[in-house]
This record gives sequence, structure tokens and C-alpha cells, in this order.
Amino acid sequence: SWTPASFVETTVNELKQKLGNDKVVLGLSGGVDSSVTGVLLNQAIGSNLTCIFVDNGLLRKNEFESVLHSYKDMGLNVIGVDARQKFWDDLKGITDPEQKRKIIGRNFIEVFDAEAHKIKNVKWLAQGTIYPDVIESVSVNGPSATIKSHHNVGGLPEKMNLKVVEPLRLLFKDEVRRVGKTMEIKQELLGRHPFPGPGLGIRILGEVTPEKVLMLQEADTIFINGLRNWGLYDKVWQAGVMLLPIQSVGVMGDERTYESTVALRAVASTDGMTADWVHLPYDFLAKMSNEIINKVPGINRVVYDISSKPPATIEWE
Ligand code: XMP
Repeated sequence: SWTPASFVETTVNELKQKLGNDKVVLGLSGGVDSSVTGVLLNQAIGSNLTCIFVDNGLLRKNEFESVLHSYKDMGLNVIGVDARQKFWDDLKGITDPEQKRKIIGRNFIEVFDAEAHKIKNVKWLAQGTIYPDVIESVSVNGPSATIKSHHNVGGLPEKMNLKVVEPLRLLFKDEVRRVGKTMEIKQELLGRHPFPGPGLGIRILGEVTPEKVLMLQEADTIFINGLRNWGLYDKVWQAGVMLLPIQSVGVMGDERTYESTVALRAVASTDGMTADWVHLPYDFLAKMSNEIINKVPGINRVVYDISSKPPATIEWE
């Protein structure tokens, strides 16, 4: 029968066989799937694996530094690339969500490809694809292809002309987490909520600017840390904050303000295909609202999203 330990043993052996002395490149995202992929490959081929972690300027607050640090702690051979400015420049003036996804996806491929070319003789591209991704990309490419273009790095293998290796291809998310646990990856990393590839880029409705990214990062940190401190983080499948393109009137002291609104979102789900909004305690929501409005300049109103999927989606774009 399937156990995480036997999966690790078999997979590491298979990877050794398949890859021999070849060099492999892997994009890390900070998420569970790519991290587990990295650790498996590291066990199999060690320093013949080079990992690349791109800061696209749309990550959570301090995410780049802290995740890079954890990867180095785990012994991975990882290169961090600060490409923030490039992404921000290319997103200037863009408001259409699908357009943003395309630009972010294309930029990622460019940055990753340029970095990978600095490594001599790379033969393989590793990816953290898991079973639901395989199924979903079949349906995304099929007749009902009107859903969001989630597979934002789908063009990577073609562009790079590398062979692809996907050790988690047959696993579900919970199995990936169990495999990670067997390999002693920290629970902090394994228990993380999913986070979309285009990051805060699709949580800033309308045009993305560096100023809005910084504002949203502050609000998002308050919310996510709040969930952790109140023991709610693990009860929620995914959570985040949306910065809305609306200004509304408020008062601060004896001044009128005209500032931004954020929407908090927390959902329960098993696979992201359907989702229910979580009935977070009112006391917690009150606390979050106060803290965000008091601490984040530019935000004077907080709302809670009580829509389920379908017909709403988890993200707002
Ligand atoms: P929706 O908003 O469609 O999201 O209900 C379902 C899940 O997919 C994530 N998501 C994305 N992930 N690139 C990604 O890698 C994307 O463009 C993208 N759009 C949505 C979303 O965060 C949720 O987990």
C-alpha cells in the first residue's frame, strides 16, 4: 500500500536513474508543491539541482526574504532573483485581469529563462505539478476553456526546450503534504494556504502600482497574522485581502477622508473548485477592521466577503 515513506524511497531512486548526472532547474514559489519537489530532487541529485525563486513584486510582505531563508536552511541550492521593477513596469496602465495574468506569466518565463541560461548544460526542467493540475489543464484546454488561465507558466517547457520532470504528478495535495512531512519539511511551510501565481497582482482590482502593493501587503499581513494568532489559520483553506478600486468617505479626527476599501476573504474548500465563505467570529472581524484602518494609511473601510463559489470565485479577478 501507498505510504509517504515508500513514495519517497521509490521516487528518489527513480529520479537518480532517470537523471543520472544531468543538471536540473526548478522554479520555487514558496508553495507546498514546488518546495516538496525541490527537497525530493535535492535528495536524489544534490547540487545538480538549481532552484530559482523570483520576486515578482507581487508577493506577500517579507515573503521573498523569509522563504529564501527557509530554502537555504533546507539545504537547497537556490538563487533568488529580484525582478520586482520589471513586473511593475510592465503592469503599468493594465486593468484587465486576464491581461495581467498574461503579462505576469510571460515575465516570469523571461526572468526564469534568463537565469536558467546562466547555468551550464541544463537538461531538465522540474515542475511541482500535482494530479489536480494535470486534470485541470486538460479541462482548461478543452471545450469549456472560458475559465481563468490558471496555468500561467504553461509555456515554460516549450520556450526552454528542456525535458520535463514532474515527480508529484500522480499525487493529491494531502499526499504531497504527507510526503513533505516524511522528509521533515517544516509544518509552517507545509500548512500554508494556496496563493495564486499572479499573487497580489490579481488582488489589486484595476491597475497595479508599487504603492498599492505596499498598502495591500500591510493589510494582508495584519489579516493573516490575525488568523494565526486567533488559532483560525488552519481552519481556513485560503485567505487574503482584496484592494478595491473604490474610494469612499470617512472621518478621521475632524477631517473628512476619501480613501480605499479592502475586502477580507476567507474560504473553506478541499480543492478550490468549490468554496464556502468561513463564518469568522465577529470579534475577530472587528479587531481586524480596527487594526487595518488604524495602521494602514490609505484604507478607511473594511468589508467581509460572504460569497461562496460558485457562483462567486475565490479571487476577485
Ligand atoms: P478562483 O478565483 O478561480 O480560484 O476561485 C481558485 C484557486 O485558484 C487560485 N488562482 C490562481 N492560481 N494562477 C494561479 O496559480 C492564477 O492565475 C490563479 N487564479 C486563481 C486561487 O487563489 C484559488 O486558490
